[in-house]
Amino acid sequence: MIVHDEQNGLFTLHTKNTTYQMKVDKYNILLHTYYGPRLGDADLSRLIRYADRGFSPNPGEAGHCRTYSLDTLPQEYSTSGAGDFRLPSLELELPDGSHVTELRYTGFRRVEGKYVIEGLPAFFGDGGETLVLLLEDAAAKVAVELCYGVFEDYDLITRAARIINLGPETIEICRAASLCLDFPAADMDYISFNGRHAMERCMDRSPLRPGVQSVGSVRGTSSHQHNPFVMLCSRDAGEEHGLCYGAMLLYSGNFEAGVERSQFETCRLVMGINPYHFRYSIRPGKGFTTPEAALVFSNCGFGNMSRQFHRAIMEHLRRDNRPGRKPVLVNSWEAAYFDFDSEKLLELAGQAAELGIELFVLDDGWFGRRNSDLGGLGDWWVNREKLPGGLEALVPKINALGMEFGLWIEPEMVSEDSELYRQHPDWVLCTPGREPVRGRSQLVLDFTREEVRDHIYREISRVLSSANISYLKWDMNRSLTQVWSAGLPAQRQGEVYHRYVLGVYELLERFHRDYPGILIEGCSGGGGRFDAGMLYYTPQIWCSDNTDAIDRLSIQYGTSFAYPPCTMGAHVSAVPNEINRRSTPLETRGTVAMAGVFGYEMDLCKTSPEEREIIARQICRYKEWWDLVEQGDYYRLSTPGEAFTAWAHISRDKRRALVSLVTGPTHAAPPFMNLRISGLEPGLNYRINGAESFPGDLLMYAGYPLPLLLGDYQSMQLYMEAE
Ligand code: DGJ
Repeated sequence: MIVHDEQNGLFTLHTKNTTYQMKVDKYNILLHTYYGPRLGDADLSRLIRYADRGFSPNPGEAGHCRTYSLDTLPQEYSTSGAGDFRLPSLELELPDGSHVTELRYTGFRRVEGKYVIEGLPAFFGDGGETLVLLLEDAAAKVAVELCYGVFEDYDLITRAARIINLGPETIEICRAASLCLDFPAADMDYISFNGRHAMERCMDRSPLRPGVQSVGSVRGTSSHQHNPFVMLCSRDAGEEHGLCYGAMLLYSGNFEAGVERSQFETCRLVMGINPYHFRYSIRPGKGFTTPEAALVFSNCGFGNMSRQFHRAIMEHLRRDNRPGRKPVLVNSWEAAYFDFDSEKLLELAGQAAELGIELFVLDDGWFGRRNSDLGGLGDWWVNREKLPGGLEALVPKINALGMEFGLWIEPEMVSEDSELYRQHPDWVLCTPGREPVRGRSQLVLDFTREEVRDHIYREISRVLSSANISYLKWDMNRSLTQVWSAGLPAQRQGEVYHRYVLGVYELLERFHRDYPGILIEGCSGGGGRFDAGMLYYTPQIWCSDNTDAIDRLSIQYGTSFAYPPCTMGAHVSAVPNEINRRSTPLETRGTVAMAGVFGYEMDLCKTSPEEREIIARQICRYKEWWDLVEQGDYYRLSTPGEAFTAWAHISRDKRRALVSLVTGPTHAAPPFMNLRISGLEPGLNYRINGAESFPGDLLMYAGYPLPLLLGDYQSMQLYMEAE
């Protein structure tokens, strides 16, 4: 609900459990007065106090009034150069060379339904409401429109800013954040999700320290290293209690999420495109819209916050063109890498079909002269040495086994050893006069250019039309370097990083639109581009190249703070694991993979009869329980690294649940432990694995008595049904 109190200059956004308020003050400065548990419509600016603070300057309108300073007041969208020395949201270079912006409120618009952002991903939904606040810097001739979307039932507020040039000359944007959020106190913890290739999104929590703390990416993608999702929470906050704010950026390129603890113990969170090598020219009359940011506040801990994000992503972001149960898949990568032919693939598919697997995904190596990762990218025609009859011959045979067929592509890349590169060496991102910087021996195509995207679209379309393909894995295996485009003049090279992301989105949108029957899975060397922006185009993303069940516990745990299980690709692979050489029981690998979009990634032809029996059982179980993982609510029941890691998928009506648990390394004579299962209905009785039944309140507050699980990395699945 959006409430406008004209007399007091108040704009109050209410969701079911939260309130967000802004106030236009006597100088037409837009202050942020409150964000937290739901309140009435009262003027919360009474929480703001004024004092003469040394060295905090006073804006023109305030004259010599020393108690009024932008340096101390909570701002809704901070600017640079005019007396607020904390993190700026907006920094412009004006035609006179100055970097000063002073925004003043000029009006508002209220729009039915949720705003859209052309060319960028955004939450959608008819039920949403939009508030647009209009600000202007009259001297700079710049307008800023702050857009707010309100999703009441999800406690979700979205934001984006549009910067419009009203003057006669071009202006330059040096920084334009999507979100600025001022808090009256700084006694909070900052939580971010960090890591590296094959170890993504590990949670980190630390108290705010004086000054700026930030995470971000300058790699051209959202990155393995830091995720565009951060949290601020009260010091006592945990899974089920305490205050917490989650902030998500719907963007797949360079980002920055900075939080500043100020001299007066307030704090500010600013999130948006990373200003590194970002400079965007806006011509007279034109505008620039930032990516969208989304906020959820929870006053009962992290779990509730995550579930709000999950539901909103599932119902208002992820455009799942294949709703319902996703086919259980086998992927050829860890089974065969580049070394396969039709015969080997059919053997693998035949084995998979017998076990109940429904989708065969042919990964890297099927095209051009791609026999290793040294060449072939860009040549999107079938390698006839490996697949003599092409996909036209292979796919019907796979379909005849009762399986669907999926294909891997890496459209944004080119190998120097490829026909495409030989024909168009200028189509890559590379600074003139330099040796190219290679990553996995490949170069990045200049997706800012339409002709490059059109060519790739045509080539891949030809492949898609040649056979019955119902799934695409869209991979991206290096970071951007030497970012320079032959398609833009020198003074506009600061647009390339962002235009690259827009180009990727544009091509994804084309495939999404033109191939509605194809489910696209995102991937970037595993989870290097696992962000809410991608989820708008690819309803699921390969979570990590690390398929070791134990490392995956931390990766999937971290990922789950923002993103629902149904978005996380998770496969069972062979042991010892390719990445860390750890061996875990097959049952445990199945339990962990079943916490996401389930599949296999191993040479099934090399499995023993006992293993095949276990696999067939796992697949049956998944087919029975899939809706809990795909549509249920997710509860983290412990933290990885403790004696066990446990989680639950619970149906919305709380009548069914799948509880999973994995132990760590074994020890002699372990203690007896009980597992408390949150999220159940206390008044219901749950039958567990078709045997004994337990009252919900007992399971929730006293816990389920765990058997002694001896041996390293054991696992257990409890399927519960209310009687
Ligand atoms: C990286 C992906 O994450 C893997 O799953 C696999 O598709 C390889 N690329 C193929 O090159």
